[in-house]
Amino acid sequence: MKYNFDKIIIRENTASVKYDLRKEIFEKEDVIPMWVADMDFKTPDFIISAIKERLNHEVFGYSVRPKSYYTSIVNWVNRRHNWEINEDWISFSPGVVPALNMLVLALTEKDDKIVLQPPVYHPFFYAINNNNRQLVENPLVLKNGRYQIDFEDLEQKLRGAKMLLLSNPHNPVGSVWTKDELQKIGEMCLKNKTLVLSDEIHSDLVFKPHQFVPMGSITKEIADNTVSCIAPSKTFNMAALATSSVIISNKELKEKYDQILETIHIGMGNVFGTVASEAAYAHGDEWLNQLMEYLSKNLDFLENYLAKNIPQIKMIRPEGTYLVWLDCSNLNLKGKELTKFMIEEAGLGFNDGRIFGAGGEGFIRMNVACPKQTLLNALNKLEQAVNKL
Ligand SMILES: Cc1ncc(COP(=O)(O)O)c(C=O)c1O
Repeated sequence: MKYNFDKIIIRENTASVKYDLRKEIFEKEDVIPMWVADMDFKTPDFIISAIKERLNHEVFGYSVRPKSYYTSIVNWVNRRHNWEINEDWISFSPGVVPALNMLVLALTEKDDKIVLQPPVYHPFFYAINNNNRQLVENPLVLKNGRYQIDFEDLEQKLRGAKMLLLSNPHNPVGSVWTKDELQKIGEMCLKNKTLVLSDEIHSDLVFKPHQFVPMGSITKEIADNTVSCIAPSKTFNMAALATSSVIISNKELKEKYDQILETIHIGMGNVFGTVASEAAYAHGDEWLNQLMEYLSKNLDFLENYLAKNIPQIKMIRPEGTYLVWLDCSNLNLKGKELTKFMIEEAGLGFNDGRIFGAGGEGFIRMNVACPKQTLLNALNKLEQAVNKL
């Protein structure tokens, strides 16, 4: 079966963050939105059917997650990522960002040092700063077209740090950390008694020949020093169903997380998220394989288009995620001017690279999880605007 990713779906007036907040975010209602990380594709039918089936029952009282929900997660990570986990390592979270915040609260104390690797997903900064922890930066370095880890600097930064916040695959630069890199990070963290909080929300979205390796799959020792967050939300375009998992093999750490979940009393989740997650993980392989092929073609198209028609903008080709880190420094637009130009002259809504911290100046983040026609329209507009500069 061939799924149709070319279909353009009107998302306006559906309470969509990406579409319906454009006026608020970009001060312009008609920009092509290529920012927030959700996809313009339909959530697949096997998920919709599962939700409809549950909807037909017409009673939505308090609910629990059944065993089959947990089994679907265990089987998925085993099948897709070669990672053997137990059902009793899985805890719930209504989202990965809430999990990051709860884990910071549960596993570190006020003023503890937490390391992150900018440029990085902006809520990482908030999870540290808003919870009154100390932010320590280990900036990534761009070498031979790939963002890499400065291990010498990391070694120093981990001294006295309680936690490392890892993004794998890394948002926004698209690096998928290799087994060797992860092993090195894991061992350094063990040596320094630094916990690894591994945000693996984009782990299903990795382009061949790159391979995602879960931090928790490397060695038992590293696993027991790691807390991992996964979700079907990015993979199957169901972020609004607010259903994610935290995987913790270390009992002591898991108890601390579960306790905070219990205290705030947000562990129930929602019944539609539960059935959707189970359907996604049970039946999603073929759809996901086809999605990755489509996204890979979008990346090829973008890369060729930029090289041929807008060589001033350089693309860092992502190894994973549908987010693309574009180097626009040759346009010589400083600070706010870059996104202002994109909005007002090109009619395009991107994420300003500066929100991702150090190294973000002169960059924008572009979301290519859209029909090719949308991408082509956006690139035509971008080309025309750049030509007028
Ligand atoms: C690295 C990363 N973590 C977490 C999230 C969001 O997680 P959630 O919507 O489950 O809170 C995103 C969304 O873009 C992300 O890129």
